[in-house]
Amino acid sequence: MRFGVLGTGMVGKAIASRLVEVGHEVCMGSRTADNEEATSWASGAGDSAAHGTFADAAAFGEVLFNCTGGMVSVAACEAAGEDNIGDKVLIDVSNPLDFSHGMPPSLSVANTDSVGEQLQRRFPSARVVKSLNTMNCSVMVNPSALPGHHNVFVSGDDADAKKAVRGILGQFGWPEAAVIDLGDIKSARGAEALVLFWVFLRGALGDNQFNLGVVPPPALPSSA
Ligand SMILES: NC(=O)c1ccc[n+]([C@@H]2O[C@H](COP(=O)([O-])OP(=O)(O)OC[C@H]3O[C@@H](n4cnc5c(N)ncnc54)[C@H](OP(=O)(O)O)[C@@H]3O)[C@@H](O)[C@H]2O)c1
Repeated sequence: MRFGVLGTGMVGKAIASRLVEVGHEVCMGSRTADNEEATSWASGAGDSAAHGTFADAAAFGEVLFNCTGGMVSVAACEAAGEDNIGDKVLIDVSNPLDFSHGMPPSLSVANTDSVGEQLQRRFPSARVVKSLNTMNCSVMVNPSALPGHHNVFVSGDDADAKKAVRGILGQFGWPEAAVIDLGDIKSARGAEALVLFWVFLRGALGDNQFNLGVVPPPALPSSA
């Protein structure tokens, strides 16, 4: 399958590399056609890797990943082009972290809105699925690097899109049972709010190689 990865940072590179590794073709997009990070990634990632502008990547991909900063994600997707995005599945990995006042960061959008919802409102035909934003990017693409049970979340309005994303998560190595469907795109508020907790956990643990695991409720007795 062809993927467009919007974003040339560590997340874009981790996801793009993993997609190529599991057999897909990837175009990595940037604000400029000659972005150094994208050029260097594409030249080292083999024949299935290409790079270009956000619009090139969005036109190329059958499925798109938004791996840009949460505060600029709408602008990045606008540069990608509404026609190029169309009704494609747009997997939003961003977090609305605002470091403009230093540490700790704040959220540029929260409580009553989220980047996932902003994208869904701005691109109503797109099928936005929020996922993978609650962990470090190396864990996103290699969940088995962490021992034991831990989870990844999906939020989105379109059931088929979430099914497609579950399939991609499976290719990344996520067991089906580790994927928790939080609900419609409004539930991205919860997934994005977790990032502040993540930032403090990272400080407490002194490492970013961790993830959240949810202990499920015990099964209800059959008479309940
Ligand atoms: N780091 C992690 O492990 C991690 C984990 C979970 C979620 N996230 C989230 O994943 C996203 C990507 O993180 P990252 O650290 O890889 O990259 P990043 O530095 O947050 O974002 C890089 C991308 O943002 C684009 N960008 C910057 N300013 C822009 C603007 N004004 N308009 C349009 N695009 C702009 C850059 O474009 P150019 O290519 O043109 O420079 C680049 O492609 C973020 O939202 C982050 O919060 C990160």
